[in-house]
Amino acid sequence: MRELAGKAAFVTGGASGIGLAMATAFAREGMKVMLADIETGALDKAVDALRASGADVRGVVCNVADPASVDHAAKASFDAFNKVHVVCNNAGVAGGGGIDQISVDDWRWVIDVNLMGVVHGIRSFLPHIRAHHEGGHIVNTASMAGMNAGLGLSPYSATKFAVVSLSEGLAMQLKPLGIGVSVLCPSYVRTRIGESGRNRPEQYGPRRQLDPASPMAAIVAEIARRLEAGLDPATVAAQVLAAIRDDQFYIFTHPGMRAEVEDRFSAILAAMDAVSA
Ligand SMILES: NC(=O)c1ccc[n+]([C@@H]2O[C@H](COP(=O)([O-])OP(=O)(O)OC[C@H]3O[C@@H](n4cnc5c(N)ncnc54)[C@H](O)[C@@H]3O)[C@@H](O)[C@H]2O)c1
Repeated sequence: MRELAGKAAFVTGGASGIGLAMATAFAREGMKVMLADIETGALDKAVDALRASGADVRGVVCNVADPASVDHAAKASFDAFNKVHVVCNNAGVAGGGGIDQISVDDWRWVIDVNLMGVVHGIRSFLPHIRAHHEGGHIVNTASMAGMNAGLGLSPYSATKFAVVSLSEGLAMQLKPLGIGVSVLCPSYVRTRIGESGRNRPEQYGPRRQLDPASPMAAIVAEIARRLEAGLDPATVAAQVLAAIRDDQFYIFTHPGMRAEVEDRFSAILAAMDAVSA
């Protein structure tokens, strides 16, 4: 989609981090933006800050894990802007705790937000984008954790692999309809993802405290250090904007990530070669 000014975007997880940075970049391009987020206070602040720059920005409280809530947010967007062209299924949470310490509730929470949140966004917006015939672009936020399981936060990585996979299928199916798809795969970005527990609904039960002496606690501390030193979300947002304009599918944000992907694919290819030899 080359022309963005005057078009409308919907961004989940829009109150913080990468979502807020994408919304800011879209508003600067003259787009109308609906921020959707579960965290009411942060949402209000983000909407006020963006409006202060003169942009047409609205907010809607939305839990992406709940299809009815995403339907409601979609309707609020159609009511506000009439047509929506860019949909960023971005809300996500990090949770885990070492493969033998992950509760079923932890798995459900991360899958409901990171994977089903993307599914719900597509379900609520795709019929609308198809119907207005003005084209559109869907950006699904995965992660480098969707390319390589890395440090072993299993539910997180499992959902991000799933988002990459569903985006690949979606892109194939939507190409003939003139609707673009991108999958965003950042490595560490300076956001509040390490404090995801702040938005964990009660239905998933209490969070288990990590034993500070456990190997997982050391991994979590290392992740916090890497996030702190991570990329500026505004840099990621600029890359997303360029990808929407150029209809680019994979969005890799960090240089030097090739080796991580190569390691995994080399092992896969070697195993395949062993069968065909
Ligand atoms: N920060 C990183 O290093 C990094 C790297 C790769 C991928 N990502 C992905 O980027 C996306 C954005 O995360 P971020 O890093 O900006 O973190 P963040 O915590 O700063 O922002 C996430 C936003 O999602 C919202 N959210 C959480 N649960 C929600 C729900 N059920 N419904 C609606 N909104 C909800 C939060 O309130 C928050 O505003 C996530 O999908 C994350 O997995 C982040």
